Amino acid sequence: MTEISFKNIKPEQDVFFRDVCAGLSRGQKSLPSKYFYDETGSELFTKICETPEYYPTRTELDIMRDNIQPIVCRLGEECLLIEYGSGNGEKVRLLLEHCDHLAGFIPIDISDDHLKEAVLDLKRDYPELKVHALFADFTRELHLPEIDFPFRKRVVYFPGSTIGNFTDAEALRMLKAMHSFLETGDGLLIGIDLKKDVDILERAYNDNAGLTARFNKQVLVRINDELGGDFEIDQFAHRAKYNKSKHRIEMHLVSLREQTVHVRDREFRFAVGETIHTENSHKYSIADFAALAAEAGFKIDEAWTDEHRLFGVLYFTQKV
Ligand code: AVJ
Repeated sequence: MTEISFKNIKPEQDVFFRDVCAGLSRGQKSLPSKYFYDETGSELFTKICETPEYYPTRTELDIMRDNIQPIVCRLGEECLLIEYGSGNGEKVRLLLEHCDHLAGFIPIDISDDHLKEAVLDLKRDYPELKVHALFADFTRELHLPEIDFPFRKRVVYFPGSTIGNFTDAEALRMLKAMHSFLETGDGLLIGIDLKKDVDILERAYNDNAGLTARFNKQVLVRINDELGGDFEIDQFAHRAKYNKSKHRIEMHLVSLREQTVHVRDREFRFAVGETIHTENSHKYSIADFAALAAEAGFKIDEAWTDEHRLFGVLYFTQKV
């Protein structure tokens, strides 16, 4: 039986406009990193993952491969898998290959084209799989599609250290939201990027091919294309540095001269060297993250890592 459904609750364009205006009106200008992921941005991110400098994606995949038996054992049979930020749909394949019986799969992503393509690819390879795709911004309130088939447990799969884009307070809010739709015995399988040598971190966000720089500037391209902005992309430079006290890589776009930019009827001034803060990517120790998740009501069950301890894959259970 083939079952496939899409539910579209994509953020509206005026939400984008409002977020842009609010971000560019702050003392420290900022833009939400979720707006990187239009079609071009999602493609750029896929390419970043293939650069020699960007270790997280391939390290996470190695950890998953090396520990796939204990991992699928935790999902068990008839599991309803809910993936946050499923992107190009590649990551879940390893789980699908090794899980005998998945009750269903709910991929959630903010990039609709990307998600549609990913789901169609999955359906080609797994025609029996029940897929309910959700175009949604999971940083906002999430309404899961209604499930009309039986399942034994729900597991949220949140790979890629995407949680690292959020401050502890924001991450805690999301973890609490997950906790509230899960039940006792349900699980959370999550990838987190670990604290490490600053050089390794900074190289990962400053690849030689310049893909991360293009990715960073993509949000300005998008403002120009979708909101009629007049950013001169070449007048901004990519900067990614580790902020040690906040345990995160911060990406900024640095204004190369004094300039004024328009977005629709709004005007924003930039001084030379003034920046737009475009992304945080938090790095944790396993203990740091387990403590954060515990605040939301999750109990750590197992943590897997690679030999250099670059990345962690953690399994939590929901406790009441
Ligand atoms: C997809 C959020 C995990 O923070 O490392 C990659 C995004 N930004 N290079 C990350 C990203 C710059 C990535 N996440």
